[in-house]
Parts: sequence; structure tokens; C-alpha cells
Amino acid sequence: MPTELSPIEKAKFAAARHATTFIRDGMKVGLGTGSTAAWMVRCLAERVRDEGLRVTGVATSTRTADLARSLGLTVTTLEEAGWLDLTIDGADEFDGDLGLIKGGGAALLQEKIVAAASDRMVVIADAAKRVAALGAFPLPVEVIPFGWTATQRLIEEMLAGQDVLGHEITRRMAGDQPLRTDENNLILDLHLKRIGDARALALMLNQIPGVVENGLFNDICDTVIVGHPDGRVEAFEPDAPAREVGLIDIRSSANIFADLGE
Ligand code: A5P
Repeated sequence: MPTELSPIEKAKFAAARHATTFIRDGMKVGLGTGSTAAWMVRCLAERVRDEGLRVTGVATSTRTADLARSLGLTVTTLEEAGWLDLTIDGADEFDGDLGLIKGGGAALLQEKIVAAASDRMVVIADAAKRVAALGAFPLPVEVIPFGWTATQRLIEEMLAGQDVLGHEITRRMAGDQPLRTDENNLILDLHLKRIGDARALALMLNQIPGVVENGLFNDICDTVIVGHPDGRVEAFEPDAPAREVGLIDIRSSANIFADLGE
């Protein structure tokens, strides 16, 4: 229950709870992936149940679809929905331009497709995700399994000419097996430490045969909602100072799991 959560989970919950207030009756909403997005799905399910909100969700991963359906939300495909009013998702890092690194949960491909097919993308995060420059978090790159070692080599050669500090690349594992994404692809994590030009790097990565998509989200996110453990909520928008936009009463939300039957 939220009152028993760690400070970081309270912060994620506060951001998620606030972001669901952007969802209006009749909206088609992209549902992100990760622990912060999971809070948002739970809060949305609560609103749907309590307020009779009619919302159609498009999930960005199998696990988000499973969670949303288990809580009674209507989930459809992006093909069926066509276009979305809003996507709410987490992030691994965000910078002052609201550039993002995403894909820590290996769902970056569907996340980027869904966010790009939305009128608005809102990111929800705790304050630790805010960085001066992207890159401390390893950049996930989704590659197809065929010839992945050659793809990795091409990425390494490309990185030599980029404004980055680190060059190590690791293939992500799930236990003792290579991790497979929802599309059955692999994830290469690029340990770049600092990315000087995220837009240039994203373009270069996506030109390499075998690369399906990269975890840099440039010029996609409209607003970042940051939650704090005490319930305070801040909004970050491009070219504007951060502003306080809410105070979530975390204690009064303590029944969210019990109410939803988890
Ligand atoms: C999933 O692939 C990611 O993009 C997540 O949105 C990101 O890793 C944030 O996850 P948390 O909310 O669990 O930190």
C-alpha cells in the first residue's frame, strides 16, 4: 500500500496519480511500461471504476496490457485505435530539453511508436531521473537477432565519431539467456556515460542495418511530471522553469490495491 512504500515508490506514485488527471472521458490513451507507468495504470483503473470514465488504452508492452486488462481497463491495439489523445509513460533519464532515454524495461520500440502516434506525451518520473546531460543510464538499442554481432560492430565504429564519453556495448540478458523483446529482438545497451548530441546519435543509430530502434526520445515528450516522496508534484516543460502543479495525499490513496482487488 502506498503508505508503506519506499520514498522512491511514493514519488513515482505521486507523479502517476497527478498525470491521470490529464485523462478525460472518451480519450484514447497510450499506457507506458515500467514501475512508474504501472502506478499510472492502477490509478487510471481506479478512476475508471469510481468515475465511470470511458477510456481506451493502448499498451506499450505485453506486461502493461496484462496489468491493464487484469484491472478491468479496455485495451485495444494501436492499429484499431488509429491515433491517441495522450500517452503517459516513464523514463530512465530526462534532460532540460525533455529529451529522454527509455528502454530500461526493454519496451522502447512499442513505447516510441505509441508516443509518436499521440497528440501529447507526458512522462512521469521521480526526481532522480532528471539529468544535465543524457547518457549515464546505458542507452538501449533494439536490434534484430540476425547478424547482431555485425550490427554491434557497426555501432561501435559509428560511436568512434560521436560526441560520447564511453564506448562499451553489452547485450542485455534475462538470467542466463539473451533478453528477447516483445518483437523477439535483442537489446544492446550502450554505456556512453555522456551523450553530447542526442539528436545526431539517434539518427546515426537508426541508419545502421539491423538496428530496429534506439531509446533516445528527442522532441517527442511534451511534459515531464516529477513526483516527490512527500506528495509534491512538479511539471517540466520545454523552455520554462519547473513549476509546482499539485500535492498528492499519499496516505488517502492507501486503499488503491485493496479497492482494485490486487
Ligand atoms: C521501459 O522500457 C522503460 O522505458 C521505462 O519506461 C523506464 O525504464 C522507466 O521505468 P521505471 O518507471 O520502472 O523507472
